[in-house]
Amino acid sequence: MKRTATAHANIALVKYWGKRDTRLNLPATGSISITLKDLFTRTTVEFSPRLEGDTLILNGSPSHHEKEKRVSRYLDIFRQCARVDLFARVESENNFPTGAGLASSASAFAALAAAADGALNLQSSPTKLSELARRGSGSAARSIFGGLVEMNPGQKNDGSDAVASQLYPPGYWPLEVIIFITTQFQKPVGSTQGMNLTAETSPYYNDWIRSNAHDLDAMRRAIDTKDFQQLGEISEANCLKMHGLAMSANPGIIYWNGLTVTLLHEIRSLRKRGIPAYFTIDAGPQVKVLCPSGNSGKIKDELRHIPGIKQVMVTTTGPGVTIEGE
Ligand code: PMV
Repeated sequence: MKRTATAHANIALVKYWGKRDTRLNLPATGSISITLKDLFTRTTVEFSPRLEGDTLILNGSPSHHEKEKRVSRYLDIFRQCARVDLFARVESENNFPTGAGLASSASAFAALAAAADGALNLQSSPTKLSELARRGSGSAARSIFGGLVEMNPGQKNDGSDAVASQLYPPGYWPLEVIIFITTQFQKPVGSTQGMNLTAETSPYYNDWIRSNAHDLDAMRRAIDTKDFQQLGEISEANCLKMHGLAMSANPGIIYWNGLTVTLLHEIRSLRKRGIPAYFTIDAGPQVKVLCPSGNSGKIKDELRHIPGIKQVMVTTTGPGVTIEGE
């Protein structure tokens, strides 16, 4: 009753921001993402009659109570499916900073879903795993798959159609992603809290939902035709729209710091000089730059001198979740 799974982080090119059901974690919008090769979570789950409670070891140390409770509640879904009443020991390791807008919840819940499913021998299909991962974190549904991935918001109340699917495998279009870490601090407003506040208070929330289908269509077309400029323009516009929306909540949610803004201007100025680079930012202050394969070295060299950058990572399109021993 023990299994280990590895899942990779993803970044959304068309973003999910808003829930149509908070309990089942059903997204109000569809989203499209790229799974990242070099940022991953490896998680081992062991259910055992010897345990007297669920425990979570995160990056080598016992995790704080809130996180452990969230994992414990999440594991109840699997216990119910398998009709077992056993506690579990969860050991999870991220190879990148946790909770600073690098989609750690995406890889974390995708790996946890696959490991728990394997440990209880539920043998769920990738689509079912995506549904289960979504219950932990909306973006985790996408990390079950590699390459370019689309999340369907679904229409059913039970969430069985709110699942992700692969648009293209990792080798289809070897894009590069450069991640600029601007601070190691954890984000002040979690995504669920941010989404709910936005839905309740932003005067622009309905327009955001209405414009989602257009962004998804345009992004699918850019991907189908491998039109990098289109992909970049839609990603940037969608990212700014999401952050503008979050800022329009009351009180406004500002995920950026000064360095985030500096980087946005620098990336646009690189583009004016003919360097193909577009930015996107999730619910945090880190800036991700998208570029066609072979351009990351030059872009990194152009931007790394900017004072205050803590770390730069370069990666490319990565694989879906894997379960060891299967
Ligand atoms: O999966 P969550 O609940 O952490 O929400 C993710 C929200 C964004 O990263 C900002 C957008 C996205 O689609 O990943």
